[in-house]
Amino acid sequence: MKLANKVAVITGAATGLGRATAIGAAREGARLVLADIDEAGGEATAKLISAEGGTAHFVHTDLSQSADVRRLMDTVGEHFGHLDILINPAAILVDAGTRIDEYSEESWRRVIDVNLTGSFLLLKYAVPLLQKAGGGVVLLVISGAGVLGGSASLPYGSSKGGVRGLVLVAREQLRPLNIRIHAVSPGEMATNMKLGAIREMAEKAGHSADEAERESRPGLSPPEDSAAKLIDLASDAGAAAGDAVTIFDGDWDIETHSLRTPTNRRLQ
Ligand SMILES: NC(=O)c1ccc[n+]([C@@H]2O[C@H](COP(=O)([O-])OP(=O)(O)OC[C@H]3O[C@@H](n4cnc5c(N)ncnc54)[C@H](O)[C@@H]3O)[C@@H](O)[C@H]2O)c1
Repeated sequence: MKLANKVAVITGAATGLGRATAIGAAREGARLVLADIDEAGGEATAKLISAEGGTAHFVHTDLSQSADVRRLMDTVGEHFGHLDILINPAAILVDAGTRIDEYSEESWRRVIDVNLTGSFLLLKYAVPLLQKAGGGVVLLVISGAGVLGGSASLPYGSSKGGVRGLVLVAREQLRPLNIRIHAVSPGEMATNMKLGAIREMAEKAGHSADEAERESRPGLSPPEDSAAKLIDLASDAGAAAGDAVTIFDGDWDIETHSLRTPTNRRLQ
């Protein structure tokens, strides 16, 4: 098993990539503390994992709230005393397709608070627990949006570029602590976030949301595909990724222990 006995925190565990990663990690032997703002969805994932014989505690968490993130990490400390792996897929994308002069300040702040400040808070309060394990792995999920190109949403793309910057800066501090950190960009997945943005953009353009969703589905992959890559990268074999900062879906080849594309190298 790739993650036997590892203690992992996985956010966004109610649905999409976070849920798929949580279920996959438990099947690979990890003991989990799950976080999400969606209590019913997060509890359902934890129950499914327990029913399969795994270990998962769910903590209702709004990542933008320091007290919530501290409680999350306190729970890790109480149950396990240390942390080996932090994976942060939780994020929001709101007001897709809204032009900057019409974009609300409230929405901007909320997205930055959840996606960027949330990543900072998670990392800040995870580091002491990772140190107790003698080091570990942190995977912060970003996107091509705001990193390789534009985005349907101003603060979403900006926040993902910000998280990549956070990883670039933090890795220098974390290296001496034996903590490996990557910004990981999954491919396009058929999840609530992606499908919601596609529907919203279509409606704003006066097109049928159902038709737009139907047309886009063949180009989207199941979140389980990207979850499997996160799990490989979080495993001991993932150490072969070395110092690569940003890893794009499909570019990390766990079999050959190499990063495939020149694009990726340019962005490190
Ligand atoms: N879906 C795609 O095509 C795609 C593409 C590139 C990158 N990504 C990234 O992958 C990650 C997962 O995306 P997804 O498509 O599974 O999204 P999703 O919307 O399906 O799931 C996101 C999860 O985060 C949770 N969440 C939202 N706000 C929260 C908060 N304040 N505190 C805690 N949890 C909160 C939601 O409840 C949900 O369970 C995100 O970081 C996203 O930016 C997705």
